[in-house]
Amino acid sequence: RIAGPCGLVIFGVTGDLSRKKLMPAIYDLANRGLLPPGFALVGFARRDWADEDFGAVVHDAVKAHSRTPFRQEVWEKLAQGFRFVQGSFADDDAFDRLEQTVADLDRVRGTNGNHAFYLSIPPSAFPVVCKQLARSGLSAQHGEQWRRVVIEKPFGHDLRSAIELNTIVNEVFPEESVFRIDHYLGKETVQNVLALRFANQLFEPIWNSHYVDHVQITMAEDIGLGGRAGYYDGIGAARDVIQNHLLQLLAFTTMEEPTSFSSDELRTEKIKVLNAVKLIGPFSETTARGQYTGGWQGGQLVRGLKEEEGFDPSSKTETFAAITCGVDTRRWAGVPFYLRTGKRLGRRVTEIAVIFKRAPHLPFDSTMTEELGQNALVVRVQPDEGVTMRFGSKVPGSQMEVRDVTMDFGYGTAFTEASPEAYERLILDVLLGEPSLFPVNREVELAWRILDPVLDHWAAQEEGPDPYHAGSWGPESANRMLARTGRVWRRP
Ligand code: BG6
Repeated sequence: RIAGPCGLVIFGVTGDLSRKKLMPAIYDLANRGLLPPGFALVGFARRDWADEDFGAVVHDAVKAHSRTPFRQEVWEKLAQGFRFVQGSFADDDAFDRLEQTVADLDRVRGTNGNHAFYLSIPPSAFPVVCKQLARSGLSAQHGEQWRRVVIEKPFGHDLRSAIELNTIVNEVFPEESVFRIDHYLGKETVQNVLALRFANQLFEPIWNSHYVDHVQITMAEDIGLGGRAGYYDGIGAARDVIQNHLLQLLAFTTMEEPTSFSSDELRTEKIKVLNAVKLIGPFSETTARGQYTGGWQGGQLVRGLKEEEGFDPSSKTETFAAITCGVDTRRWAGVPFYLRTGKRLGRRVTEIAVIFKRAPHLPFDSTMTEELGQNALVVRVQPDEGVTMRFGSKVPGSQMEVRDVTMDFGYGTAFTEASPEAYERLILDVLLGEPSLFPVNREVELAWRILDPVLDHWAAQEEGPDPYHAGSWGPESANRMLARTGRVWRRP
């Protein structure tokens, strides 16, 4: 699928996301031949840059972060479509110049009036940029032409602000022209949850409360927050990734089979299941939050959050969060879903672990099953992408002793095709107008409705988050949260 004639305008083009993800993804798309020949990339920012300066920045970003080999001829063709517009969001003239630039590109590059506006900017700036796009006529679609807006999380900081934000965006862009990025949905391994469940006969019959004991969804990172205080302080781990990435993983894991993979059907099923997700309390026992302190990680001495640049020593921002959810449907009644995420944990790993109940009866001498755990199916989202199944097997020898073994599927060995980077897939989908992998306003609002009660609960506590050492697996309270039901967190 190759995108038709179009252009992309990036606001916040001098930011980290733009340099590390967006620019390299655009080059990789061009390199794979998936962009139209006259594709145009417009950067909008306050810097006093000429088109060439902008081009040099994209060049460096591509050299540093793109996934595909650098090819001079691809680069040169792509770079002919680069433009830079200097200005601030409050500046009417700048937006008029942007409108002019876009109109010129339609003539010179043949972008045909099809443009996407990528708001890689803080949400507080969404309203002014949307208003400017409307005022300058940039958001208006004529005839067959399309205009789309791409927005990055956080989509608000609670339900109320999310509704406000959605209303403002929808006043300028109809919902079908709004593409909300949750980059986890761009990951192959996340999409594969649907293939695993709905392309096979093996898993779906046992994918319910009769067989599943509980589910653990973990997104652990080893990085700290140095350099990200501006975004992260006051936001915290739950808003940063549980509200979006982890609840989307939960939705993929628990939704019913869509009648097709059209965006409407997929979103309908996700919305249905998100409607059924509830937090389980009491929060003092069923949730945990933590903040990393200094410690040794991977042989390096690292700083605690309070010593990181830009963070207040009295910051109560959580860098670890864990919650317990239930899904109130016939399929999932009574099954707890434990979601956890944290910075500066033991290692970087994201996984969905479905832990099954024990067999109802074991016809073995009990001393022969001491090393038999619960069956598990683990979707390894990253790194080391794949799926692991854990089950009991006879230990070779004269006795009927049973022990856990694992069976692995790994992307690296099963496929020769390389996975596209999440942003590459998602940017292409924006340009193609393929909305399946982008959450709609209702999903975002439901996710806040799920999370708000625990955020309110934490905010009302006098105590801040529990400290945990960098390089550990989070605060003790996270272990207690599972221990109260006789369970333990997996050590991935
Ligand atoms: C982002 C969060 O959405 O996801 C970051 O804001 C986090 O805090 C990042 O580090 C992780 O993404 P990935 O793809 O590396 O798991």
